[in-house]
Amino acid sequence: MSRKVFVAANWKMNPDTLTEARKLFASAKKAAGSFRGELVLCPPSAYLSELSRGYRGSRIVFGAQDVSHERAGAHTGEISGAMLRSVGASYALAGHSERRAQGEGNESVGKKVSAALSSGLSPILCVGERIRDEHGDFFHVVEEQLRQGLAGVAESSLPRITVAYEPVWAIGKRAENAMKPADAHEMAIFIRKTLTQSYDRSAAGKVRILYGGSVEPENVAGLLADGGVGGFLVGHVSIEPARFAELLKIISAF
Ligand code: PGA
Repeated sequence: MSRKVFVAANWKMNPDTLTEARKLFASAKKAAGSFRGELVLCPPSAYLSELSRGYRGSRIVFGAQDVSHERAGAHTGEISGAMLRSVGASYALAGHSERRAQGEGNESVGKKVSAALSSGLSPILCVGERIRDEHGDFFHVVEEQLRQGLAGVAESSLPRITVAYEPVWAIGKRAENAMKPADAHEMAIFIRKTLTQSYDRSAAGKVRILYGGSVEPENVAGLLADGGVGGFLVGHVSIEPARFAELLKIISAF
């Protein structure tokens, strides 16, 4: 693979306390020590400042799990890109399916991607169908998520864009229920093709494409070999220290 394998670890709403977060971070740091790819850690934003402030290494960069599309002002509970930058984040997820399930639509996700870019964050745009229908409508779902998600993105910003394809039906399961590498590959090709409808081919080639949805030590090698993606968005395994270390080890050895 020409680029380093990229792993974004999404802790979701875990763990319960800052003390536990520090412990989890210590184990991630240890695992990252021998990792040969790029690691982006996305803890809950409540912990971002504390974890990033004490970190002196270069192996881990930080990301947020969400970002407001607003710049500032009367938006109770929202966190802006500028705030996230100032507490150490370099990346932000936008449109994770668990946010979309709370009512976030494509248009809002697109605004978040633009807001992230203008505040200096690199967005990780999450796309993925809820179900796979036999007529292939899920391709249109993903196409529309991409089109609206990237509506405000200039070609010159594409090197800062990551698209994480996460079929919702494969999230939070075990490896055997995850997507098969050949199907991930097919979608990666489709995503790339969709990008070339709006952008120059070589610029579209600069977008990093990840797969997410039950990436585990048991299936990561197959996905790396045949999934056609440049990395992974990892959920539950990222909060299981031993398995996360194993996952990174397998990727490094690839
Ligand atoms: P999972 O989560 O690895 O637990 O399936 C992935 C995600 O939701 O980002």
